[in-house]
Amino acid sequence: MNRHSSTQTHLYASLTAYLQDLQESGVDGIPTEMMAVVASAGPQPAASTEQERTSGMTDQMNDQMNEPQQHETLEQIRKDLGPCQRCKLGATRKNLVFGVGNPHARLVFVGEGPGADEDAQGEPFVGDAGKMLNRIIAAMELKREDVYICNVVKCRPPQNRPPESDEVTACSPFLLRQLQSVKPEVIVALGTSAAQALLQTKVPISKLRGKFHDFHGMPLMPTYHPSYLLRSGGSGDSFWSVWDDMTQVLQFLKLPVPEKSRKK
Ligand code: URA
Repeated sequence: MNRHSSTQTHLYASLTAYLQDLQESGVDGIPTEMMAVVASAGPQPAASTEQERTSGMTDQMNDQMNEPQQHETLEQIRKDLGPCQRCKLGATRKNLVFGVGNPHARLVFVGEGPGADEDAQGEPFVGDAGKMLNRIIAAMELKREDVYICNVVKCRPPQNRPPESDEVTACSPFLLRQLQSVKPEVIVALGTSAAQALLQTKVPISKLRGKFHDFHGMPLMPTYHPSYLLRSGGSGDSFWSVWDDMTQVLQFLKLPVPEKSRKK
């Protein structure tokens, strides 16, 4: 077996295992045709023209395509962002809120956008919603430093309104690069804005939450925003819905699920 076909065989095996893992973890929406094709077809020898064979271009191109993309660090992305004025939020912010936490986190939380406290301190989720997020993280028996936390937009929308579509569009390429840099095993989208922006949908959060979706090859679990939990008293149905979602996340990550008892 030459290097080219052994790389393909390896890729097919990894893809099959990954898809099966997703299925077993309860991810829905994996097209059955995809499972069938990946499991049965295996690598096909690539057709090549005489010119490509003699110049060696096919192997060279395949090697380049199979090579992992050069890893971009969060520092490089932050530097590239600079003193950003790519959208109108740049004019009114105090601090650009890039993200915080473990650059190699297995789990990333993505919120909507900075509020007043985050704008003042330059760090995501440090106000009341942040305290609630910290409670969720602690309930999962994780530490804030273990995970990575960022937002759909990096600058505070005036009066804490949801980010507008031009703002999301300007900021999204940087969020995507951050997520590709951290390459978490799971992304949790907190609330409507984050879930709808990442999944490019208008489906309400109540319909999106509770199951894994795909974001550029990374499993994404939408759940309610911590502010929503605060508005609904921090307990009750919405809290248990978030806990059910986080239970699925912990199971996916093969981490222990702490016992929580619902008050009757
Ligand atoms: N709400 C968010 O969505 N993000 C923050 O950083 C703070 C509050």
